[in-house]
Amino acid sequence: MRPGQANPDARALRARKASALKGLFEVPGDKSISQRALILGAMAAGETTVTGLLESEDVLSTAGALRALGAVLVREGAGAWRVTGACWTTPAAPLDFGKSGTGSRLVMGAVAGMPIRAIFTGDASLRSRPMARVLEPLTQLGARFEGDGPKALMPVTLHGAASAKPITYQVRVASAQVKSALLLAALNADGISRISQAALTRDHTEKMLSAFGAKITVGSAGQGETIVLQGGIRLKAAQVEVPRDPSSAAFALVAGLIVPGSEISLPAILLNPRRIGLIQTLLEMGADIQITDRRISGGEEIGDLTVRHSQLKGVTVPAERAPSMIDEYPILAVAAAFARGQTVMMGLEELRVKESDRLAAIMAGLAANGVEADESDNNLTVRGMPKVPGGGTVATHLDHRIAMSFLTMGLASENPVTVDDVTMIATSFPDYEGKMRALGAVLEGVKS
Ligand code: S3P
Repeated sequence: MRPGQANPDARALRARKASALKGLFEVPGDKSISQRALILGAMAAGETTVTGLLESEDVLSTAGALRALGAVLVREGAGAWRVTGACWTTPAAPLDFGKSGTGSRLVMGAVAGMPIRAIFTGDASLRSRPMARVLEPLTQLGARFEGDGPKALMPVTLHGAASAKPITYQVRVASAQVKSALLLAALNADGISRISQAALTRDHTEKMLSAFGAKITVGSAGQGETIVLQGGIRLKAAQVEVPRDPSSAAFALVAGLIVPGSEISLPAILLNPRRIGLIQTLLEMGADIQITDRRISGGEEIGDLTVRHSQLKGVTVPAERAPSMIDEYPILAVAAAFARGQTVMMGLEELRVKESDRLAAIMAGLAANGVEADESDNNLTVRGMPKVPGGGTVATHLDHRIAMSFLTMGLASENPVTVDDVTMIATSFPDYEGKMRALGAVLEGVKS
């Protein structure tokens, strides 16, 4: 794909060296939890209320699909939604999930357990992502599917099970989406399902299922875990408070670390232990990040963060940490470019199947901006520099995290960094530009 090619409405943006970034940075609601709140609410009996919902394109695509399946979703104010669950029915038209991997895969799971049929589709980025990893395990419950080729690319037609059977299944990929899809399917199976995973991926589905009245237990199994779920019990509506997204906070955190003189406060950030690999890594790199007022909100750990400019040093990030920071490697690669010495990130194979091939996009973005890096066996090594040259144009490949990461680089590099498209940032962080500018970031439009 050439820069911007897949998006005729692409809008390029350039970030240039900023003086100190200062102030309060309020990030929107967590994307993973927002998606799950709507999906579980749409399946449950009764009226679920959600506050702090992330109103980004990905979440709104899921909301549209859930409406088409029969649920009633009403927006009552900023981030405040009311969801009335329903017994889902076959939608009249294909469900278009835009770029949302999580929305589409979790809804596939739910549909697989029901005696209905749905066609799943999305934009060019989603249509290039493998759906077989979710759909093949779902056939064990009795679902059938037709997709394109061995990866089962979208559009996919999914025939839910006429009468879903409980499963015992070992998830082979370190993916919370696959685990969650199986759990949502197993909710409608007639009996007890056991789903195991060798990696400890994010556990928001398990936690939220429990809050919605499911009979679910989680036990450790070796390095991983086994989840036991009783099927055939209808979920009951709940109240969900969505905490602020650590994956969106990551961009301001790293900006604060690399721009001299910065000090940024990020209140009430989700600190679920399975989501804080980036913070842990940055602390090991010598980052000045204070975490205060750790508390529980909506069943999740949260805390207030303050970040100050710091001289970082290179570290080795073990493969076992990857699930807890899987979306944060692009921004960690940017932090690593400004660190003393080299940073080695291990076990990145899952980055190949994100909104873009993120490993390739990171390598190309670093090279375009004069940063040396190499990649072999899915390990990435970035060699930090006292002065990062910048000056390049980065191909974002419809990937929001690539766009925000390289804009962050441009705030501290010697020359401005341009990204070829920023429109897709709205999938996860609708007011990113406004909020970064309010801190003092210099982001300029680029005439094509
Ligand atoms: C997510 C899981 C991760 C992550 C994605 C959100 C989720 O994907 O990259 O942004 O909400 O379950 P995988 O499950 O494919 O690792």
